[in-house]
Amino acid sequence: APVVVAIDGPSGSGKSTVSRAVAARLGLSFLDTGAMYRAMTWWMLANDMDVEDAEAVAIACTKPVIVSGTDADGPTITVDGQDVSGPIRGPEVTAKVSAVAAVPAVRTRLVELQRGCAEVAERGIVAEGRDMGSVVFPHATVKVFLTASETARAERRAAELRAKGLDEATITAMAADLARRDAADSSRETAPLTQAADAVLVDTSDLTLEQVIGRITALVEE
Ligand code: ADP
Ligand code: CDP
Repeated sequence: APVVVAIDGPSGSGKSTVSRAVAARLGLSFLDTGAMYRAMTWWMLANDMDVEDAEAVAIACTKPVIVSGTDADGPTITVDGQDVSGPIRGPEVTAKVSAVAAVPAVRTRLVELQRGCAEVAERGIVAEGRDMGSVVFPHATVKVFLTASETARAERRAAELRAKGLDEATITAMAADLARRDAADSSRETAPLTQAADAVLVDTSDLTLEQVIGRITALVEE
């Protein structure tokens, strides 16, 4: 059976960076499922929807056509044919994505797309998010739960935003938002962020990126 590597963890634990590198190194496809929840949220905001209205979100969520390119060297995401890889990282989407991701109908739809991506991946896939090991790919070859102290995660995010040229007020606001989003993602009823029983816990607080990538690559090659 094709390899499925499931990587979950809170924001800033290193999921995207590490998963992409592991996929590139092993010649596997790469899927950023957070980008799909962000794309759904972006579309709803672009259509002036109240995303706190769970019923409206559930009804509308079948409308946008979300397509994820799974090339580890250059992942892409489009909504109705439009490249949204930039706007989905902005503060507006970041502030609202947890509310949209908590709606069961949204998850049903995106989980279906995620499993479809894994089915067509030629050599296998590294999929990262919050429920890869617990819900989407329960039979994954390798499951990893990435963590890092809240300080380490906040510092990494801040450094990233600073490098992008964002102002300090926005960075501070986004840091506060990170803690709120983690709490929301961990406490929601449908597919909360949890470590699967058979997932390997990797605390990245005091590891370099290279160490984390090496450790996970070794787990897959075992
Ligand atoms: P996530 O996808 O879990 O939110 P990212 O992969 O986006 O996390 O990582 C957030 C930031 O932290 C990135 O700028 C990344 O380069 C950095 N980073 C990730 N893991 C480490 C690590 N082990 N050591 C140092 N920096 C890291
Ligand atoms: O980049 P960051 O780690 O901050 O977030 P992300 O991975 O892009 O995910 C954005 C949001 O999508 C999360 O805060 C969750 O609310 C949601 N998400 C989810 O519910 N399930 C997933 N498998 C992936 C993301």
